[in-house]
Amino acid sequence: MVMAKKLTIGFGSAKIPASGDIIIVVGDKGVFGKLGAELDKQHDGLLASAAKSADFKGTANATMDVWTQSKNQAERCVLLGIGGDDDRAETSWLDLGGTILAAAASSSAKSATILLEDPAGGEISGDQAALVAMGMLLRAYKFEQYKTSEKARKAKAKTLPKITVATANSTAAKRRFSALSAVGEGVNIARDLVNEPANILGPVEFANKAKELSKIGVDVQILTEKEMKKLKMGSLLSVSQGSVKPARMAIMRWNGAKSKTAAPVAFVGKGVVFDTGGISLKPGAGMGDMKGDMGGAAAVTGLMHALAARKAKVNAVGVIGLVENMPDGDATRPGDIVTSMSGQTIEILNTDAEGRLVLADALWYTQKKFKPKITIDLATLTGAILVALGQERAGLFSNDDELSEQLSAAGEATGEKVWRMPLGKAYDKMIDSKFADMKNIGGRFAGSTTAAQFLLRYVNETPWAHLDIAGTAMNSPDTKINRSWGSGYGVRLLDRLVADNYEK
Ligand code: BES
Ligand code: MN
Ligand code: ZN
Repeated sequence: MVMAKKLTIGFGSAKIPASGDIIIVVGDKGVFGKLGAELDKQHDGLLASAAKSADFKGTANATMDVWTQSKNQAERCVLLGIGGDDDRAETSWLDLGGTILAAAASSSAKSATILLEDPAGGEISGDQAALVAMGMLLRAYKFEQYKTSEKARKAKAKTLPKITVATANSTAAKRRFSALSAVGEGVNIARDLVNEPANILGPVEFANKAKELSKIGVDVQILTEKEMKKLKMGSLLSVSQGSVKPARMAIMRWNGAKSKTAAPVAFVGKGVVFDTGGISLKPGAGMGDMKGDMGGAAAVTGLMHALAARKAKVNAVGVIGLVENMPDGDATRPGDIVTSMSGQTIEILNTDAEGRLVLADALWYTQKKFKPKITIDLATLTGAILVALGQERAGLFSNDDELSEQLSAAGEATGEKVWRMPLGKAYDKMIDSKFADMKNIGGRFAGSTTAAQFLLRYVNETPWAHLDIAGTAMNSPDTKINRSWGSGYGVRLLDRLVADNYEK
């Protein structure tokens, strides 16, 4: 059983419950399953006739409420479409869970049971049933602790019914869900971090959140400004220079592999708790969104939670650079030249291209210190990636075809999709500087690629991938499994990448 805030989900055997709401699945062309048909019979054919009159066809995620008259039976039955063979992808089961949660949330019953069977007579596996529960967990997420009105208080006090997934494979489902729910919690942690405003969640507070992972066996180390100065992280520190909030770097290590000394997989996150643009100040409209400019760091933190909570058999390290980008008398000016930890110098021509400055030192530190097998960074790096890909896919930039393939496959499977974008010498030339080794902007065109080329100058021989998640991490459109502004994008994608390719 998993409790997430006010959500309780359990698995039970495939039988009709004595009380509470009952949700039955209806397949293609309005076909009922065995249990659905049995329930219909108990109600003298009311369900089937109601479906027929309403022309309810069982299209995936369509729902219809039917109120029965029975005294000791559930009064409310929900017909839930699960569609046909085309609707059996991993993501379809998640979506189904999201729809079930929404139906259950509108109920005043104490319990709701989903009779999860295949109306076409096939079998629903434990894995699939667990995905349905995962979909519920993701959809149930809410961020409303700052709403204090009477109405909001009442809404918050309302408890969800206890949900049971009744399935023939409940034992397998339970086992699988214990791992999946760890990932779901990771997503919800990332969402919380993105949704929190920057007056509440500064670099120090974010680092404290990372520190909390030590409760589940993650080794967490926090670097202070003094320590980062000693390490010569002049690039990262140039970003936080105008802020009264001191910078932090959090290093999270999970050693779950058989060999504790095997090279880890590394994840690096951009954690700009707020991005005003600095002296190259952003326009006012929509600037509030920049509280989400730590979506990369949030995803890395959520991922480390997921890996540790499900005891993944992998050595993993997560490194997040935490800063606030502010204008100030002491802030970095356009034209300033700084020296990064790698020794390379950077002419900062636009203080709003700050994410790459944070990542340059975080990437260098990570590779130097941990000699990882692969390094993947996540960053809400450029507005240009939104122009190119919208909110549908993250931009993928990589020096390695195999890693790119692995990420693309994990993206299609989880629904957290990516699209590979180009890198190359001609783009690299665009960030050569007149005065220093490089400048931090590339000009008007190919903005996402020149940002990635900048990062590539801080990558050694390790297979590396950069995910530009400016379009997918925040300001998220509603989906069946997400109603949150901060989506938690990247946690499920990278957990899947690890599970499929880097666990032994
Ligand atoms: N944090 C922004 C990118 C961003 C934009 C994230 C929209 C989410 C939504 C980043 O630091 C930035 O300001 N990038 C500049 C780069 C430019 C100055 C080269 C941009 O995209 O305009
Ligand atoms: Mn910026
Ligand atoms: Zn930024």
